[in-house]
Amino acid sequence: MEYRNMRRIFGALIFVLIAGAAILSSCEHHSFLVETVDPVDSVYFGAVIQPLLEKKCAACHGGSKDPDLRADRSYESLVSGDYVTLPAEESRLYRKVISSGHAAYTLPEEKLKILYWITQGAKNNK
Ligand code: HEC
Repeated sequence: MEYRNMRRIFGALIFVLIAGAAILSSCEHHSFLVETVDPVDSVYFGAVIQPLLEKKCAACHGGSKDPDLRADRSYESLVSGDYVTLPAEESRLYRKVISSGHAAYTLPEEKLKILYWITQGAKNNK
């Protein structure tokens, strides 16, 4: 093969590699999550966490299975059952939410909201 052709092919290859790396890193999971859930902003229980638990969990955790995650009960049962202790990563609630049996019930950004809410003290804020 001619030297000029080889240079062209090599150049095209480098271009594809760089473009590919740029595309891959731009849609990296982590940066997407950080944009979706701001760790500095408060994650409010009333506005965010309670509706999430009601929508994603209460069908099963509707009173007969601990913790009770119905809207009017979830805060009380999470706190009294010791589900939302610090450090948040090791809390019973977060560990369950990311466990293989439960991971499919929430989206990645929902898991992160739960984590941040616990990190911020698991307050019963609106
Ligand atoms: C399809 C039914 C179902 C859904 C939906 C569900 N769970 Fe569960 N959950 C269970 C079952 C069954 C158990 C008990 C067995 C086990 O630990 O996996 C359980 C156990 C748990 C436990 C551990 C209880 C303990 O005392 O250790 C927590 C915490 C929990 N779920 C939280 C959640 C949260 C939060 C959601 C919503 C994001 C959720 N679950 C959605 C069925 C469900």
